Amino acid sequence: MRFLRLLPPEPAHAAALALARLTPPLPPRERPRLATRLAGLALPHPVGLAAGFDKNAEAFAGLLRLGFAFVEVGTVTPRPQPGNPPPRLFRLVEDRALINRMGFNNEGLEVVAARLARRDRRRGIVGANIGVNRDSAEPIADYLAGIERLGPLADYLVVNVSSPNTPGLREWQRPERLGTLLAALRRARDGLAATGAKPPLFLKIAPDLEEKDAAAIVELALEAGLDGLVVANTTTARPTSLRSKHRDEPGGLSGAPLFEPSTALLRQVAARARGRLALVGVGGIDSAERAYAKIRAGASAVQLYTGLVYEGPGLLRRILDGLERLLDRDRLDRLADAVGRDLEAGAG
Ligand SMILES: Cc1cc2nc3c(=O)[nH]c(=O)nc-3n(C[C@H](O)[C@H](O)[C@H](O)COP(=O)(O)O)c2cc1C
Repeated sequence: MRFLRLLPPEPAHAAALALARLTPPLPPRERPRLATRLAGLALPHPVGLAAGFDKNAEAFAGLLRLGFAFVEVGTVTPRPQPGNPPPRLFRLVEDRALINRMGFNNEGLEVVAARLARRDRRRGIVGANIGVNRDSAEPIADYLAGIERLGPLADYLVVNVSSPNTPGLREWQRPERLGTLLAALRRARDGLAATGAKPPLFLKIAPDLEEKDAAAIVELALEAGLDGLVVANTTTARPTSLRSKHRDEPGGLSGAPLFEPSTALLRQVAARARGRLALVGVGGIDSAERAYAKIRAGASAVQLYTGLVYEGPGLLRRILDGLERLLDRDRLDRLADAVGRDLEAGAG
């Protein structure tokens, strides 16, 4: 980890991916109390790796061997694209945060599909996060292509309408546009049945939504028959608490400063959805306490990215050990019993 931190952020990321691929197969420690379900998927525990780390599906097998319960590859766009010019990834060390404006750099659907097609599906759960090309004339067609190409190969799908780094993308979150999009996505997912696949379909939303728009998104997701929401992507907000010199770089902020706003949104969404949507909590998780807070706020599973950059892969083990201790503290047998606990108590 110390060596990686001496490198500039992007080479450090490339080295981390290469190292992840070398992870030897270790017998996973059984943690029966932490086993849980997400939209019908059986997870060995609730902690997964968020989208953007393994954009091109190069390292998911090693990342599963590291101990993540699930890995979300992508965001993948139909055609390969280079993303924004560097520098486009910044460490805000004092704030335990990152700012990125990668802009969906990725190798495209065909390359990613070929990699996923070669995987052994018994080795763990891999979701695919799909997006649109920056210069796309037909954004809905781009999302549909992602569903058709990766749906049969992935265990779940996430439609990304929340990256701040593709101009116009977040406009799809507007209630007046979202309904049409979600209906088309749902039809495309259901159309996969001919291939024998019915991957759960999630929508990934931004933490910067106004309360009324978040409420509308929950209703639209339910109407369209989506399986769940991933809450949330990076934020374009810049909390006044930020100290690092890079704080004013354009892009999406992730890490510790995102924990409060993303968890507040999760709680709001969970209170509206009342168990009718599967929720994945993501944003600022760097400890068992923070993972547990998302679960108590209504998340069936959680994901992290920036915490891994600052804490290293040992963080995963610390979170899982800590979750078992927190269940003891709350006198709960199983993690699944903690999901949404804060809402029931009327604290939401
Ligand atoms: C460098 C970087 C690249 C990312 N790329 C994507 C992406 O391609 N698609 C996506 O849905 N989210 C992407 N994310 C967002 C993460 O998946 C996650 O939602 C966000 O970072 C908040 O979690 P964290 O605070 O644990 O990092 C990216 C995040 C970072 C730091």
